[in-house]
Amino acid sequence: MDMNADHARRGVHEIEAPGAILRDQAAYVGMAEMLRQGQVLVSRNVLSAELTRRITHYLAGIGRSSLPNWRPIEPGCPNFHRLNWNDERAYVHAAFHQFSFFPWNQDVFGLFGMLDDVFRLRNRLCGAGETAFLSGDPSEGAVARFSAQFYPRGGGHMAGHIDPAGEYQLVVPTLVMSAHGEDFTDGGLWVELPDGLRLQVDPLVGPGDVIWFHPQRPHGVQAVDPEATLDWTAFRGRWSAILAVNGLPGNAARAGVEIGG
Ligand SMILES: [Fe+2]
Repeated sequence: MDMNADHARRGVHEIEAPGAILRDQAAYVGMAEMLRQGQVLVSRNVLSAELTRRITHYLAGIGRSSLPNWRPIEPGCPNFHRLNWNDERAYVHAAFHQFSFFPWNQDVFGLFGMLDDVFRLRNRLCGAGETAFLSGDPSEGAVARFSAQFYPRGGGHMAGHIDPAGEYQLVVPTLVMSAHGEDFTDGGLWVELPDGLRLQVDPLVGPGDVIWFHPQRPHGVQAVDPEATLDWTAFRGRWSAILAVNGLPGNAARAGVEIGG
């Protein structure tokens, strides 16, 4: 690694694979402490770059050939995609295309199986049972959600915000699915560190990495390639996915509101 690349990676702290941390109590305690301190952590190559590319190509195909539609998150709801754009009611001003997957539905990649260790580690860090919300049993009051987020070139963004500290939202892992410098060059995810520095995360990570940070750190997505022409159907820009848990009707307050990054 050359000096510049080494310098560029200093802002994120590399941790072991999620499965290894689940089996190593000392590593787990260390990770939880770093999150509390406000550090940005990264698990490298949780998925292969090639697999993340296949996932985003698949999602782009769905996005181009079917209509976006909002649906309520309720037991048994279908996977769906929608635009978060010019929505006055939105909690955070944003422009991105979101694809939501729930564990009770079929999906061709088996996303929840591939990311099982990440969801389990997230659950433990949030004080929930390790396998909670993954079976799709609505009596748990909340459900795991794989939420892919596409930020188009030409200004895809999410305004800076702090996520509400819901019971199940004490950490939100983010799967990186685009390559900074190839798919886009300007903008992307930033997290404000405890010293006030705004860390631009995307140059420090690559497709298949998982980012962890405390949702009480201010964060957002700076406009992606704002000089480019916005074209929602081109699917050129920045892809990521948050590994979320959402409250089900009657329990929404427990899990906090929609979040992203
Ligand atoms: Fe957020």
